[in-house]
Amino acid sequence: MKIELAVLFGGRSVEHEVSVISALQAMENLDKEKYSVHPVYIAKTGEMYTGNALRTMSSYLNISEMLAECRQVTFVPEGGNVYLRTLSESRREKPIRIDVAFPITHGTNVEDGALQGYLKTVGVPFVGPDVLASAVGMDKYVMKTMLRDGGFPVLDCVRLMRGEKTDDMTHRVEEKMAYPVIVKPVNLGSSVGISKASDKESLENALENAFTYADIILVEPAITKLREINCSVVGDAYEASASECEEPFMEDEILSYENKYMDGGKGGKQGGSKGMASLKRKIPADISPEMRNQIRTMAVEAFRYLGMSGVSRIDFMIDCETDTLYINEFNTIPGSLAFYLWEPLGTPYTKLLDTVISLAIKRSRQEEDILFSFDTNLLAMSAHSGTKGAKSVKKV
Ligand SMILES: Nc1ncnc2c1ncn2[C@@H]1O[C@H](COP(=O)(O)OP(=O)(O)O)[C@@H](O)[C@H]1O
Ligand SMILES: [Mg+2]
Repeated sequence: MKIELAVLFGGRSVEHEVSVISALQAMENLDKEKYSVHPVYIAKTGEMYTGNALRTMSSYLNISEMLAECRQVTFVPEGGNVYLRTLSESRREKPIRIDVAFPITHGTNVEDGALQGYLKTVGVPFVGPDVLASAVGMDKYVMKTMLRDGGFPVLDCVRLMRGEKTDDMTHRVEEKMAYPVIVKPVNLGSSVGISKASDKESLENALENAFTYADIILVEPAITKLREINCSVVGDAYEASASECEEPFMEDEILSYENKYMDGGKGGKQGGSKGMASLKRKIPADISPEMRNQIRTMAVEAFRYLGMSGVSRIDFMIDCETDTLYINEFNTIPGSLAFYLWEPLGTPYTKLLDTVISLAIKRSRQEEDILFSFDTNLLAMSAHSGTKGAKSVKKV
């Protein structure tokens, strides 16, 4: 019997469009013998739709026309299963049972634990990290703090909140680190809101810019002689393995949204329909076997330490002046699901997708085991002893 798979994408996120590209690529590569695929597009309004038009890239040129051909749906738990149910009364269609949900979503609201919490509440197994690991992976400050606690190398940083006086903020930064510094929103991706500052005045501007995108921002020392190396990890907290390493190349000082998705960035030919897979990069990265080994080992250890699941991409920075390696960030649902880092090791995209889907099923079975072992039938006991029993209920 085929697995009924809902592929979720889009969402209320600045990386909405990138997610559409990633999801369409993945749907093309899913094994049709194993899965019945149901695309679920989350519009920027938060409404969810399903329909065949969602599978074609050209449909997205006119979204309202596309959605008129689709059905608005929602996930509904019923009798131990979860169904995708049509909302419109006039077009009641048979609800579709969903065995596994596969969020191929990037950014706020959809990669940060919010969507994962929704899927968990509804009760459908889902691919990728659980609620907490998703939230940790999205918040650059929390992630760094945890990694530092685990003994992993990360850059120092200062965390600033909207509402603090600008003078206090710049003072806190200058107290802790020297210029140049990098200013970034804690919870965005794709280089949105990120800029470099080399003195107090440019720091004030960079802060103002970052605060237009987020309430909490992070400032860290800028590495001037920087090499960036990325490595993907697939697995879960119990068992994980590392992909080939890549070195992405930037045209601007900061690897920008245009560099990442617009096929070569400014001046390059436009049309980023290949998403992250189209970025200028070198695979395998031109690094020593020792460095490759160190990065791949550290990527796996950090992935397991943070309790990740599915496919992540871990981005490293090398300070070439001091020859020091740092973990920069985790992408818990990376662009193009980082398939292009697995192909060089002989793992086709279809196989990668199978692996992450089976990890979702494995986790949901493990969770069921835990839940059943805690089934104490408390309510039945309370029914016998009346409400006074409630006084002694302890939440452990
Ligand atoms: N400390 C730093 N020093 C120098 N460049 C940096 C630093 N942090 C980030 N960058 C540059 O900015 C880019 C985006 O930063 P990153 O932390 O990866 O955020 P995002 O989540 O938006 O990808 C990086 O790919 C790198 O080019
Ligand atoms: Mg990055």
